[in-house]
Amino acid sequence: MKCVRCKKKAVIVLRRHNAAFCADCFLHYYKNQVLKNIRKNRMFEKGEKVLAVVSGGKDSMALWDILVKEGYNVVAMYINLGIGEYSNRSQEVVEKFAKENNLPLIVKDIKKEFGLDIYKLSKTLRRSPCSVCGSIKRYLFNKVAYDGGFSAVATGHNLDDEAATLFGNVLSWEEGYLARQGPVLPQTHPKLIKKVKPLYTLTERENMYYVLLNKIEFLHEECPHSVGARSILYKELLNKLEEESPGTKQRFLSGFLKKGKKHFQDVREKLELKECKNCGQVTTTEECSFCRFVKICNQQ
Ligand code: FES
Ligand code: ZN
Repeated sequence: MKCVRCKKKAVIVLRRHNAAFCADCFLHYYKNQVLKNIRKNRMFEKGEKVLAVVSGGKDSMALWDILVKEGYNVVAMYINLGIGEYSNRSQEVVEKFAKENNLPLIVKDIKKEFGLDIYKLSKTLRRSPCSVCGSIKRYLFNKVAYDGGFSAVATGHNLDDEAATLFGNVLSWEEGYLARQGPVLPQTHPKLIKKVKPLYTLTERENMYYVLLNKIEFLHEECPHSVGARSILYKELLNKLEEESPGTKQRFLSGFLKKGKKHFQDVREKLELKECKNCGQVTTTEECSFCRFVKICNQQ
């Protein structure tokens, strides 16, 4: 098969676009998608400070690399969540990339810095480690972004992630989540920094190609807690549909963003936002969950 752009031998076939590309033209396509997503959704401008959340996996490594290459003012942030060897290996990958390319990187270690232990919290609060971990990550990304004067927090969510999340939210008609799902989560409070997903139209497979073609090292394993997660089942189901009918995921997501999302706008939760009495970060209770976590883990 030939590249649709330059007619050289193709190395990747994108069935949903009815296209095939050689390595150079694939990278051209990839870059254009990211730039279009950023501009079309007004995620951030060239000079603005962007905090890129990195985990060492292919998606966030691709995000970090493309933002740097395209000249955005990007600082990466990595959080060591104390998930055994998985966390140590992912930290190594991220630190090595920053060092080799001379890039700014902020590293937070929840155990060393705050005494936090997601397993202890999970047991005490009877919540899954993933849900505790999610709260901690959201808090720290926002806090670092706010304290550092960043305009946006960018994550490596891809088309597969977004379609699976949408699928799950539709199955249980989570109106509040549906109202908020999208490539940009706007700032609803001066202390809540805008969240953006520049890779939301690119698939896992395309991110994988991007890192392989650019010889970027990444951690192949997923977080051990993701095994058996609902989102993985949803991804498998969507992959089957995609196999039969290429473009399903993209149609599902873009159709929702264009035609479906607006019907949920007035169900946006009208939660009263307050500032935590300890740390000043935004919360809906007197004290934010992060501050409560720190207390739980540090009391004997
Ligand atoms: Fe948070 Fe897996 S990354 S529990
Ligand atoms: Zn707090």
